[in-house]
Amino acid sequence: MPEVMVKGTKIHFLEKKAQAPDPKGKVVFIHGSGGNAGLWQRVMDGLAGEYHLLALDLPGHGRSEGLGMKRVSEYRDFLKDFLNALGLERIVLGGHSLGGAVVQDFTIYYPATLRAILLIGTGARLRVLPEALEVTRQMAEGKIEPRFDPWGFSAKASPEVLAAGEGEWAKTSPRVRYHDLMACDQFDIMKEIEKIRLPALMVCGREDRLTPIKYSEFLNSKIPDSKMEIIEGAGHMLMLEAPEALSGAILSFLRSLDSLRADY
Ligand code: COA
Repeated sequence: MPEVMVKGTKIHFLEKKAQAPDPKGKVVFIHGSGGNAGLWQRVMDGLAGEYHLLALDLPGHGRSEGLGMKRVSEYRDFLKDFLNALGLERIVLGGHSLGGAVVQDFTIYYPATLRAILLIGTGARLRVLPEALEVTRQMAEGKIEPRFDPWGFSAKASPEVLAAGEGEWAKTSPRVRYHDLMACDQFDIMKEIEKIRLPALMVCGREDRLTPIKYSEFLNSKIPDSKMEIIEGAGHMLMLEAPEALSGAILSFLRSLDSLRADY
């Protein structure tokens, strides 16, 4: 499994190199709260071939060392160091939920590093239900037993999909999960989102209860060069609930960039 040292912290990532001799570009994926790179595996399988694909475990998540961070801005600056460590530039950056918040903030601060962005099940403000934050805090402090909550999934999600979600959820500590939710709760760039001037794709599940379609519609209305796709029958956890539909939406967006821009 590939790893890279980022300012003294060992960071794990998944990588799928393009099969074509002349790759069309690089795409880097960032998971959401309490997630890890493995959540992107099936989406990466669906995209394999034309692009060089990477997905990282944020610090303290999955197999990466370090502690989780409490602010999106800290993840944004960590991401800059990660991309520098691997010499990645002119990439397409994609993120889900908290990862999508990191992508938005990164795009405002470091637009020159990017070619386009993918905002999946996310929003420009990510207030968390106070009760959910409190329960997560109590789990982090060991006051109650960690318990997986399927609220992020559509009510129609199969037991297999829920089991896969629970398996990934268990790979990150309760404390890091709590800090991630704190970072979401404090995130609000509703007034800054218009600064984003890169091509953007929004994807949201029709039944997303954590970042409802309204959040993606807001992004779509504020980012001039944007497209939005809604995935029917899926909730917030699109990478597990609808990986084929998600990779299909991403692939057609990437190909539209290819056909429009000769410098990609
Ligand atoms: N994009 C567009 N609109 C947004 C938005 C976003 N990212 N975030 C909030 N809004 C809207 C809300 O829909 C609401 O609009 P309304 O007044 O027309 O109903 C308004 O802005 C204020 O919303 P919010 O800042 O969220 O405060 P609130 O006190 O109304 O609600 C919660 C707080 C926690 C109940 C609510 O945010 C919620 O249900 N969140 C989703 C559940 C959750 O925990 N998600 C986790 C995110 S990772």
